[in-house]
Amino acid sequence: MNLAKASVKPVAADRLPELLRRMPKAELHIHIEGSLEPELIFALAARNGVQLPYASVEELRSAYAFSNLQSFLDIYYAGASVLLKEQDFYDMARAYLVRAAADNVVHTELFFDPQTHTARGVSMQTVIQGLHRACVDAQGELGISAALILCFLRHLSEEEAFETLEQALPFRDLLLGVGLDSGEVGNPPEKFARVFARCRELGFHLVAHAGEEGPPAYVWTALDLLKVERIDHGVQSSKDAALMQRLARDRIALTVCPLSNLKLCVFPDLASHNLRQLLDAGLVATVNSDDPAYFGGYMNDNFTQTFAATGLTAQHAYILARNSFEASFIDAAAKRMHIDRLNEFFEKFQ
Ligand code: HPA
Ligand code: ZN
Repeated sequence: MNLAKASVKPVAADRLPELLRRMPKAELHIHIEGSLEPELIFALAARNGVQLPYASVEELRSAYAFSNLQSFLDIYYAGASVLLKEQDFYDMARAYLVRAAADNVVHTELFFDPQTHTARGVSMQTVIQGLHRACVDAQGELGISAALILCFLRHLSEEEAFETLEQALPFRDLLLGVGLDSGEVGNPPEKFARVFARCRELGFHLVAHAGEEGPPAYVWTALDLLKVERIDHGVQSSKDAALMQRLARDRIALTVCPLSNLKLCVFPDLASHNLRQLLDAGLVATVNSDDPAYFGGYMNDNFTQTFAATGLTAQHAYILARNSFEASFIDAAAKRMHIDRLNEFFEKFQ
């Protein structure tokens, strides 16, 4: 879907935030551990008798000033240390799904980082069952569909990724796909080419973080060596014209996270973000929250703040929402149903 093909009625600037908030949308780039709010971190620490290196919620929140990806990851992995029991994983995912549903997210594909938990002695079963149960309950109680994508930590070894895959195989049916996250620079996609080849044989959907801080070369190798279906972030792609053409030609979606890019200093301010450039080049870009508890905003905050800063229009809003469904891993009938509802919403909005 490119801009020229979308005919959307103009919407007055003062009504745009309401349109953005109310339109149905899918979220495809959310690390569930990044949805742990400081209040829940403290509640789980108390419940589990975990000692935190922060005296209060306020002190923890005031530590959320990041200069790059690694400065965030250090705090993010520390926050996840309070997760021990199946109910903890359930409560974390439930809180996110309630919040997402309030933003009119109707479908989401959740990343989780099992190695962060298994390294602390928490079993794969505990992690996956808690998250899965929250996804099942959310469908019935909140009307939001949710599925799980297991991410390998790229700062760890290929061997550890293979061990993690082995531990996850008994729960194969509860997993939609696999991804690749954590510190990008120095950990190129090719490090995991064999793991991804195995996951492909097993029928998993494949995604990877690439071109967040790392160079366009990492996006190329994620596509050509890992054979991923979507690129998470991918904003550095605009530095490489041939890559932009490849992404547009093959309709490879980018799951862009504007507030994350702002907080991790990928762009100096939101007005400088290249989302508009990606859309204008015909790329299947989407808007997502990444780690909303750490980056100051859930889905609708990402939409409203980015639109306000960059002057995107109702036409772009439609394309972004439509892209989110087209880039999702739901089946064709579910895609059609969501896009029909989106069309109806835009027709009726005034
Ligand atoms: N990039 C890489 N790894 C991550 C991120 C991210 O934005 N969030 C959580 N893990
Ligand atoms: Zn991410």
